[in-house]
Amino acid sequence: MNEAAAPAAGDLAGRVALVTGGRQGIGAGIARRLAHAGAVVVIGDLRAPDASDSVGRWVGLDVTDPDSVGDAMASIEEVEGRLDIVVNNAGIMFEQDFETHPLESWSAMVAVNLTGPFLVSRAATPLLKRRGGSIVNIGSIEGFSANPNHVAYGATKGGVHGMTNALAVDLGPYGIRCNAVAPGWIDTELNAAYVDAHPDRDEVVRQLARLHPVGHIGAPEDIGDVVVWLASDRSGFVTGQVITVDGGRLSRPPLPPIMG
Ligand SMILES: NC(=O)c1ccc[n+]([C@@H]2O[C@H](COP(=O)([O-])OP(=O)(O)OC[C@H]3O[C@@H](n4cnc5c(N)ncnc54)[C@H](O)[C@@H]3O)[C@@H](O)[C@H]2O)c1
Repeated sequence: MNEAAAPAAGDLAGRVALVTGGRQGIGAGIARRLAHAGAVVVIGDLRAPDASDSVGRWVGLDVTDPDSVGDAMASIEEVEGRLDIVVNNAGIMFEQDFETHPLESWSAMVAVNLTGPFLVSRAATPLLKRRGGSIVNIGSIEGFSANPNHVAYGATKGGVHGMTNALAVDLGPYGIRCNAVAPGWIDTELNAAYVDAHPDRDEVVRQLARLHPVGHIGAPEDIGDVVVWLASDRSGFVTGQVITVDGGRLSRPPLPPIMG
């Protein structure tokens, strides 16, 4: 993380932000950046964050469960008294061969990655309508292109991008904007398993870096910086957009290794 690159403090002073899945990884990076910009942050996650490096108040939340989502909103209304920013970040990812893909694991992925943002955004809307607000969905470059054995993941992330357009249209008249960030490869536990599974982890990291025109993979704060902008009034004329934050990876179609 480059602290010098952090956005100006104070842009979000007085605003209240809910970050789902904010106990670790990208969500924790988003929470840190929102707090730096002055927002009061609520972390909605299945488990509480480690006290050591967390920001904000934790509220127990399962984004797949309408009752849990309703309880979280009631808690925010009672404790913080308002809600201005919703970051639909909670997500899961696993590999599964398409032909033997169990319906159960497909449904589990859809429940967290796609139904979750629907339930949270729907429940948040009455609070957001009071003063206007900003919803930021965390999609993925896999909403545009797919890794092997990722049919459920790619479908849910494409769905998140589509939902972003639809919510921008439906909620715009209430002063609520909705945008998405599509991250590329970000260093978190979600994909560490892929890297760690290889016997030469350092070589994997080197090869991953070479896929990116900027020469390295991303950090959670790289996503947080864009979320802060989308959450702030500085992006007041931006809605219905999916902003790719991938170090240029999708901009460079691969050449055969012998030519690269
Ligand atoms: N890491 C990447 O390279 C990458 C790339 C593109 C998109 N993304 C997306 O970014 C988001 C965050 O990914 P990450 O890498 O930080 O993952 P992560 O596994 O490190 O963290 C995910 C968080 O979501 C929480 N969560 C999972 N299920 C939940 C539920 N039902 N209710 C509430 N919270 C739940 C987990 O407890 C965890 O804190 C995901 O939507 C992921 O698809 C990640």
